[in-house]
Amino acid sequence: MAEFDIERFVQLSKAVDLSDIDWKEATAVGITDEEYRVVRYMADTELHTILYLRDLLHGHIARDPEVTQFLACWVYEETHHGRALEEFLAKVGRPTEPDRFQSLVKQPTVRESMGDSLFALAATVSPLLAATHMCWGAANELTAAASYQALAERTPNAQLAKLVNKLQRDERKHFSFYFHQSQKRLVDGGWRAQAICKLAMSRFWQPTGLSVGGLATLEFITSYLFGSEEGRESLRAVDTTIGKLPDMDWFHGVQQWTDAARDRFRKAHPADYERHRREDRQIGAVRAPVPAAVAV
Ligand SMILES: [Fe+2]
Ligand SMILES: [Fe+2]
Repeated sequence: MAEFDIERFVQLSKAVDLSDIDWKEATAVGITDEEYRVVRYMADTELHTILYLRDLLHGHIARDPEVTQFLACWVYEETHHGRALEEFLAKVGRPTEPDRFQSLVKQPTVRESMGDSLFALAATVSPLLAATHMCWGAANELTAAASYQALAERTPNAQLAKLVNKLQRDERKHFSFYFHQSQKRLVDGGWRAQAICKLAMSRFWQPTGLSVGGLATLEFITSYLFGSEEGRESLRAVDTTIGKLPDMDWFHGVQQWTDAARDRFRKAHPADYERHRREDRQIGAVRAPVPAAVAV
């Protein structure tokens, strides 16, 4: 399996290029309220990457030059993802309120606080936890890529599709780094690193941005973007790919979490759920087949 080339990644890292986005066309086509809800969540989550970076930079991880160089470029690229999405929203008449970022940096839940503190402590006392951090990151980057792909396939706004396809390509590069780091650390750390990873991913994994977008928004997105058989398959492919890591072949966390969330949305909003499925059937005729797993 090819190694991730950190030198090449750092040299080529850049803000997403918007020079070929036709803003006039983007504005003329516009977006629906449901598309706005998805893009708003994506922009908010991207712009929170700097706070996720704070949670990552502890102990062993903060002392690894390969990881810190990646993270410096990663947070730069993700921030520009958020800015690009907000620029798109402004162009379609839905500008971001000036104090949005501050208003979203809410008090974390007790579980989040405990989780952050435990992760920080464990990362300080043991390099073994870094393998889990990297596995977690790989799952989240690949889920983000699947979300952008699903939105690109669904939206009638060709310029939005073009933009999120660019973001999707960046997310797959980020995934590759996290996956290879996790693989190396799970092998080097042996059964102890693998046991910690198994415990964390089975007990605590949840999608990025849950505390930013809120549970109701995530439930809506699982129906809107991932309610079709193709949508579910794209998430199964995430689990299958994460399952290629050492002792991770049991992992079905993304599929399980999203299946449950989609089910709750179906029960709470049956009419919207059925409309999403009708829209799926119209889109299905032109959708490209989804790979069963991602090449890494
Ligand atoms: Fe991103
Ligand atoms: Fe990313």
